[in-house]
Amino acid sequence: MDRIRIVGGNPLSGAIPISGAKNAALPLMIASLLTDDTLTLDNVPRLADVEQLIRILGNHGVDYSVNGRRESQDSGYSRTIHFTARTIVDTVAPYELVSKMRASFWVIGPLLARMGEARVSLPGGCAIGTRPVDLFIEGLRALGADIDIDNGYVVARAKKGLAGGRYRFPKVSVGATHVLMMAATLAKGQTVLENAAREPEIVNLADCLNAMGAKVSGAGTDTITIDGVASLSGARHRVIPDRIETGTYAMAVAMTGGDVVLEGARADLLEAALDVVARSGAEISQTNEGVRVTRNGAGIAPVDVVTEPFPGFPTDLQAQFMGLMTMSTGQATITETIFENRFMHVQELARLGARISLSGQSAVVEGVSKLKGAPVMATDLRASVSLVIAGLAAEGETVINRVYHLDRGFEQLEAKLSRCGATIERLSE
Ligand code: UD1
Repeated sequence: MDRIRIVGGNPLSGAIPISGAKNAALPLMIASLLTDDTLTLDNVPRLADVEQLIRILGNHGVDYSVNGRRESQDSGYSRTIHFTARTIVDTVAPYELVSKMRASFWVIGPLLARMGEARVSLPGGCAIGTRPVDLFIEGLRALGADIDIDNGYVVARAKKGLAGGRYRFPKVSVGATHVLMMAATLAKGQTVLENAAREPEIVNLADCLNAMGAKVSGAGTDTITIDGVASLSGARHRVIPDRIETGTYAMAVAMTGGDVVLEGARADLLEAALDVVARSGAEISQTNEGVRVTRNGAGIAPVDVVTEPFPGFPTDLQAQFMGLMTMSTGQATITETIFENRFMHVQELARLGARISLSGQSAVVEGVSKLKGAPVMATDLRASVSLVIAGLAAEGETVINRVYHLDRGFEQLEAKLSRCGATIERLSE
C-alpha cells in the first residue's frame, strides 16, 4: 500500500491550483440519473471517490466519456466528463458498492423520481460516526414515497410518481438536502424544504438542475422551493473550486510560513474558515488569480473554533485546523458538533509531539514549539491530511500510511506541495 514521506521544515511558496470540489462533483454526477440526455460536467477532480461513483453509476446504466476518450487515457488535473443515463438498467444499488462510499446512497433520490422505485443498500457505519439516513427516509415520505427497510436495503416506491410536499429538516443535512432537492425536481407540484443545508455545493447543484430545466429557487438560504417539471434535459455545468482543499492548503501555509497563491480558489466559499486562519496570524487576500496566503516570522496565535453547518466553520477542516493549532503559542479549544467521533487524528498528532486532551465533543490543544516527524496512520480523509500539514512543519521525517484516504479527496497532493518547496514524495509498493 502506498505511503507518503515528508521531510518537514520548509516554508511553502509559489502557486497551488485548486481542483474542482469533490463534494460538489459527486451530487452533480448523481444528477445525471435524472435525465436521458447528456450532462457534461467541467472541472471534475481526478479522485478515487469520483472513479468509484463512476463505477456505481455505470451499474445503473450511466455511460460516460472524458473529452471523447476513455478515462484511462487522460492525465493531469480536473477534467470534463460527459454522463449519459439514456436508459436506467437497474434501480438497485447493492451493499458491495454503497458500503464503499456513503454518498452513493444519494442515488435513491433520482432513481425514485425518474423510475418510481429504488432499492438502495443502507451505507452502514463509518469511521466518523453512525451517520444515519432517517432524514432521507422521512423527507422522501413527505414527497409521497412508500419506504420499507428490507434486509439492510431501503426500498422506496412511488408508482404514480412523487408529489410535491413540505419537509422541515429537524437537523441540517447536506446529503439529505441534495437528495430531496433532486427528487423534487420531477415531483408533481411544489416542494418546500425548510432548514435546508446552505453549503455552496447545494447552490452548485441547484444551478445545474436549473440549467437542466428544473425550477429550484432559494438554494443557499435555509428554505428551498422546487416546482416539479415533467422531465429534465441535458446541460453543461462547472464544478465549483474545492473549498476544503483551499482551506487545507491555507492552513498548511499558516503552519509552515511562506507565501502561496491558491489558484482559482474563491474566498467567498469559506469565509468562516479563512477568517479563523487569519486570526491565527496568516494574511489572506482574494486576488485575480485566487486566494493568496502568507505568513512571516510571527508565531501562530491560538484560536478556538466550533464546527457548524455552512456558513460556520466546516467539520471537514476541523482536523487540519487542529494540526495548525498543535504549534500555536497558547491553548485552543476545538469543538466538533457535526459528527460524534471525528477526533481519530488526535492520537496520531500526539505521535508527532502534539499535546491534545479530549473532553466530550471538545479537544483542548496546548501549542508546542516544535513537532518531530514519526510514522503515522490515518483512518479518514480529512484526518490524513491533518497529518500532512503537521508533517510539513515537523522536524525530520514523517511517513503517512494508508494513503488511499488522501487519494479519495486530494488531487495530486504531493505534486502540488512539492511545487511549492515541500519535501514530499509517494513511496509506492
Ligand atoms: C457531507 C459531506 C461531508 C461533510 C458533511 C458535513 C459530501 C459527499 N460529504 O456529508 O464531507 O463532512 O456533509 O458538512 O458532501 N444525519 C442524520 N440523519 C440523516 C442524515 C444526516 O442524523 O438522515 C446527521 C449526520 O449523522 C451528521 C449530520 O446529520 O451528524 C450532518 O450530516 P450530513 O450533512 O448529512 O453529512 P453528509 O451529507 O453525509
